[in-house]
Amino acid sequence: PAAPLVLGIETSCDETGVGIVRGTRLLANTVSSSIEEHARFGGVIPEIAARAHLEAFVPTLRQALETAEVTLDDVDAIAVTSGPGLAGALMVGLSAAKGLALAAGKPLYGINHLVAHVGVGLLEGGPGEGALLEGSLTSDQHTGVTQLPAGTGALLVSGGHTEILRVRSLTHEVELLGSTIDDAAGEAYDKVARLLGLGYPGGPTIDRLAAKGDPEAFRFPRGLTLPKFIGTAEQPGRHRHDWSFSGLKTAVARAVEQFEAAGRPVPTTDIAASFQEAVVDVLTSKAVRAAREHGITTLLLGGGVAANRRLRELLAARCAAAGIELRIPPVALCTDNGAMVAALGAQLVAAGVAPSSLDIPADSSQ
Ligand code: KG4
Ligand code: ZN
Repeated sequence: PAAPLVLGIETSCDETGVGIVRGTRLLANTVSSSIEEHARFGGVIPEIAARAHLEAFVPTLRQALETAEVTLDDVDAIAVTSGPGLAGALMVGLSAAKGLALAAGKPLYGINHLVAHVGVGLLEGGPGEGALLEGSLTSDQHTGVTQLPAGTGALLVSGGHTEILRVRSLTHEVELLGSTIDDAAGEAYDKVARLLGLGYPGGPTIDRLAAKGDPEAFRFPRGLTLPKFIGTAEQPGRHRHDWSFSGLKTAVARAVEQFEAAGRPVPTTDIAASFQEAVVDVLTSKAVRAAREHGITTLLLGGGVAANRRLRELLAARCAAAGIELRIPPVALCTDNGAMVAALGAQLVAAGVAPSSLDIPADSSQ
């Protein structure tokens, strides 16, 4: 049988995304963002996000169907993010997906947003993207299920999550090896951008400014790197593979305050570069250590912060040095989108996983 044609819907935060895939082939990935409506508040306002999904959903769906040149009748299943995320925002996508599934008589798959960020690494390329994912994948000809290389792991870095995972298969739960104990990496970017008087979201702006600054101008702290947290490979400390970014944020705030108190101009580009270097240094060093110690030989990078140029560069260098194969999706597939939901949905359909029931709830914390 042909690989399944799956429509994926993503509304967990501020992006309304509809993606369409055939197995591991990307046919459409349409995203409408409400990010500009949140910018003046310095963060995502849940009710504004939910209202924006309500307005953007149908146009986004129409455009995705047009791009893929398919109709709702053609699709084999509908996949939708059921969590984690903002409850009200999730409910818009879930309600839409249930309506479509019921009306068109298609099976519905509730999808975990985090596992979808990992699963997007399996897509083989897309319209207008120009970029094929690095490396090649093998798909089982009979089931259409993509074989994950043994020892596959994922580093997920977004506005809500910073996690290193072992991924045994996309159809089963993933195993958490380490995570942030306070702020997510993207959240740290957004908070520091605010301290520096830059707009929301902070990541792209800091990324751009950092390229012009001196990453060694300030020595900002790398959280949870003291021996008492790390321990040894034989006797791991409690936070050997975990991150903490709240101390870093405080250190940046102190630096800014000192310049302001002295009536001197705040060296924004140098602070941005030094902050970024601290985040990327500790992210990559701890991820690579966790990967090495857990036999991970292929690492997928996912989440919005995966768009970061310095992170891509340093992670590639450190993975190469450790003999780890790194897969980085194109930027448009790293930030929130519907294609990642469709991609994971297609894996579930191909593996014969039973669909979700039509009363599936929004699980904002899952
Ligand atoms: O995955 P995503 O689109 O949404 C969540 O699920 O959170 O990630 C958004 C986060 C924001 O915090 C944003 O500041 C950050 O990703 N981000 C970046 C970059 N582009 C987006 N952080 C660092 N460098 C970037 N180039
Ligand atoms: Zn995300």
